[in-house]
Amino acid sequence: MALRCGCKAPRRQWHVLKAWRSAGFSLFPGHRGLWRGAGSPVDPEVKVFLEENTEVTSTGSLTPEIQLRLLTPKCKFWWERADLWPYSDPYWAIYWPGGQALSRYLLDNPETVRGKSVLDLGCGCGATAIAAKMSGASRIVANDIDPIAGMAVSLNCELNWLNPFPILTEDILDMEQEKWDLVVLGDMFYDDDLADRLHQWLRSCSRAYGTRVLIGDPGRPQFKGHCIQQQLSKIVEFSLPKPTCQENNGLTTSAVWEFWP
Ligand SMILES: C[S@@+](CC[C@H](N)C(=O)[O-])C[C@H]1O[C@@H](n2cnc3c(N)ncnc32)[C@H](O)[C@@H]1O
Repeated sequence: MALRCGCKAPRRQWHVLKAWRSAGFSLFPGHRGLWRGAGSPVDPEVKVFLEENTEVTSTGSLTPEIQLRLLTPKCKFWWERADLWPYSDPYWAIYWPGGQALSRYLLDNPETVRGKSVLDLGCGCGATAIAAKMSGASRIVANDIDPIAGMAVSLNCELNWLNPFPILTEDILDMEQEKWDLVVLGDMFYDDDLADRLHQWLRSCSRAYGTRVLIGDPGRPQFKGHCIQQQLSKIVEFSLPKPTCQENNGLTTSAVWEFWP
């Protein structure tokens, strides 16, 4: 099993995701959010499940200095039927090319985050928030509407010997803006409606507080075809490692973009 956003169908893919993509449905209907404070406890049952069904890995991505619990071919559910997975689709279990580029950029350019407040919006496995923390950000919040992602991020902080940062599992795109020095988004432009919501939210965030916005994206159609393109400048582009290319049919590079509303 492998998860994909807006790419050619892989050889093995979860039925749920196939259905979603062909029908054009929202990926995360009916999610209910929760606040998680720093170091919040991970449900022990979920923890055991995640530990048994992920592999700790630091290879095959642009950031070998970050260890993550991911779904890999060594895991049962890579090959298993999707409907047997007991939680919502585990997008957090893939380290997406957009997040990889952003994390690489933050690790290579720590001045981008040092001493700053950083929000990782749609954090998934939390790698970009972890990169921000490793590079000296003073305040970090990771946000993902999937509560299991929140728990996975806590486990990934532990793996990297970091004190967990707060994890927010509310959908904040309809909420009042908070002041952030920097908002980072990895691979979040995979759905047209979500892209529109993000664009609007980022625009008001930047205008209200002068927040800097960095977006990591490997050239997904929903990103390349969105009107946000007129307000972007490319900062850096990376060639993707072979395993990431293999998992993301057809994608070979991933770039970091700055948003200028
Ligand atoms: C393709 S994954 C990217 C994860 C991570 N940023 C990376 O690059 O590896 C997209 C993530 O966005 C999350 N997501 C979707 N809609 C969201 C929303 N409205 N607010 C926050 N997170 C959202 C999903 O749960 C998923 O984990």
